[in-house]
Amino acid sequence: MGRRATSHEELNMPTDIIVTAPLPPFLYDPLKADYRCHDYVQAADKPALLAAQSASIRGLVQGGGTVTPTSLLDALPKLEIISVFGVGYDGVPVEYCKKRGLKVTNTPDVLTDDVADVAVALIMMSGRGFVRLNRFAMAGEWKKRGPELTTKLGGKTVGILGLGRIGKAIAERVSAMGMKVAYTGRKPQDVAYRYVPDLKQLAAESDFLVVACPGGAATKNIVDANVLAALGKKGTIVNIARGSIIDEPALVAALQAGAIKGAGLDVFADEPNIPQPLFAMENVVLLPHVGSATRETRQAMGDLCKANLDAWFAKKPLPTLIPELA
Ligand code: 8YV
Repeated sequence: MGRRATSHEELNMPTDIIVTAPLPPFLYDPLKADYRCHDYVQAADKPALLAAQSASIRGLVQGGGTVTPTSLLDALPKLEIISVFGVGYDGVPVEYCKKRGLKVTNTPDVLTDDVADVAVALIMMSGRGFVRLNRFAMAGEWKKRGPELTTKLGGKTVGILGLGRIGKAIAERVSAMGMKVAYTGRKPQDVAYRYVPDLKQLAAESDFLVVACPGGAATKNIVDANVLAALGKKGTIVNIARGSIIDEPALVAALQAGAIKGAGLDVFADEPNIPQPLFAMENVVLLPHVGSATRETRQAMGDLCKANLDAWFAKKPLPTLIPELA
């Protein structure tokens, strides 16, 4: 008589995973085809879901902005891997995962171009006043008066906070527009752009200060009232990274006081909530966190998110393990 199969693996049953963020169908459907997915977002009774399934859940899928508390991970003793549908994993407790030997993967590279495009769009929309001018044209105002004059971008300085993959893609784009690039980060890199060690100093030298570094505890509120004061009346802040990096009340106060020129924001501290005072400001451009939101890129992110899970459970090398765990 053959050995009695005891685990899902031996019985060739689908692996159990828990999904802690709303996922698009082009990711969720293929996941459901290959895994037994437990929808933590939709579950009316979350503790009951955990009590019933925690002994078999081996994978977790979440979004870039999803915060995963250690209490949830503690309740999943068989968990092996967290696959993040996004490049940012500031919501994942990485040190905890390191200690527990959990793998964490994300979706870098595939979204770099799209996010950099949005940074450039925010520079253009704020610097050249395109949102106001669009409203002006659509309201038929042109018949009554000429359009406002705005600011030339060529020759102006873009200060980039965080010269990673996305920061570099932004630098390439604005260089092609004739803008000057300076950057700050943990250390100088072997690049043609000027390194400014101090963020406040970078802000003082920038016409556009572009936030492109990872979120998380290390960067929380580093763009504070002092940095905004240094950016000053000639400066516009652009954020395509994480809302947590900017002290949002300080930003609102700086805009209300006219202490900075303007802001172009794709991300916010408490999404989808945007601070109310920003809605009334003519010098602020707001986007609803759409850096990577194209069909092509979200599909590529979904494919990579699933490829990481598939690789792990097939005992193959992980395509995009986060650097801290590599
Ligand atoms: C997505 C993001 O909105 O990649 C990231 O870190 O913030 C965005 O591209 C998000 O990850 C989708 O879940």
